[in-house]
Amino acid sequence: MADIIDGKAFAEGLRARVATVAADFEAQAGRKAGLAVVLVGEDPASQVYVRSKGKQTVACGMASFEYRLPVETPEAELLALVEKLNCDPAVDGILVQLPLPSHINEQKVIATINPDKDVDGFHVVNVGRLATGLPGFVPCTPLGCLMLLKDKLGSLSGFEAVVVGRSNIVGKPMAQMLIAESCTVTVAHSRTKDLPAVVRRADIVVVAVGRAEMVKGDWLKPGATVIDVGMNRIPAAEDGKTKLVGDVDFASASEVAGAITPVPGGVGPMTIAVLLRNTIVSAHRAAG
Ligand code: GUN
Repeated sequence: MADIIDGKAFAEGLRARVATVAADFEAQAGRKAGLAVVLVGEDPASQVYVRSKGKQTVACGMASFEYRLPVETPEAELLALVEKLNCDPAVDGILVQLPLPSHINEQKVIATINPDKDVDGFHVVNVGRLATGLPGFVPCTPLGCLMLLKDKLGSLSGFEAVVVGRSNIVGKPMAQMLIAESCTVTVAHSRTKDLPAVVRRADIVVVAVGRAEMVKGDWLKPGATVIDVGMNRIPAAEDGKTKLVGDVDFASASEVAGAITPVPGGVGPMTIAVLLRNTIVSAHRAAG
């Protein structure tokens, strides 16, 4: 049986370290580090995330500024809010929760965020910094995956890594980070031919495709380290109930893998912890 990678415990430890740094920052700067989170509309999953971000920000000793805008908010109004936050010295990090309503151009909104407050790491300047090895903000979920991998494996140099999924939020930045760690990286996706054969090459597998329990145990090289970014709600065995599962079939994969993240309790708790880490890093940079 595979070792279970406990993301919940790792995230708790990371938040405790962030809280210590946040207290030092407040003592030096005479103000709390601040994170602004903007939610447009009432998407239920986004509301849960935003509430959780606000609570954890405050629990780490930082200031949380929450903006909840109605679904019909014009794009220009959202852009004006982002510009105001860009200039607000109490705000070290800005996060605009995605997805945005369809009348708003997401890329335009992300491009308006000051890259030095872009704690999501989505601005093209930060994407370019990651790709060229310059310091900047990198997206929270893949950075959380990388922290779990390094905690488990130490140096990743020379490992064969397969990233399944090519999104801007997870797959592409994950591949960049693994290249920077000297892995040999393959990015697979929905059009990849013979995906099981590609995954079977990997010492490290990161799966972020949004398809419930797609990666099976017999797709894995024995002993591989498996990071499951998926969060899919599916009907449970009992009538009318649902359960949360990953993109990896945990039952079969945990019989073959060397180590694996569970869902829930693996990658999920890491995202917000890394967001808080990025925010305190931003505050220290702003303070020089
Ligand atoms: N929606 C889902 N994940 C994320 C994230 O990491 N950042 C933002 N801004 N929106 C999201």
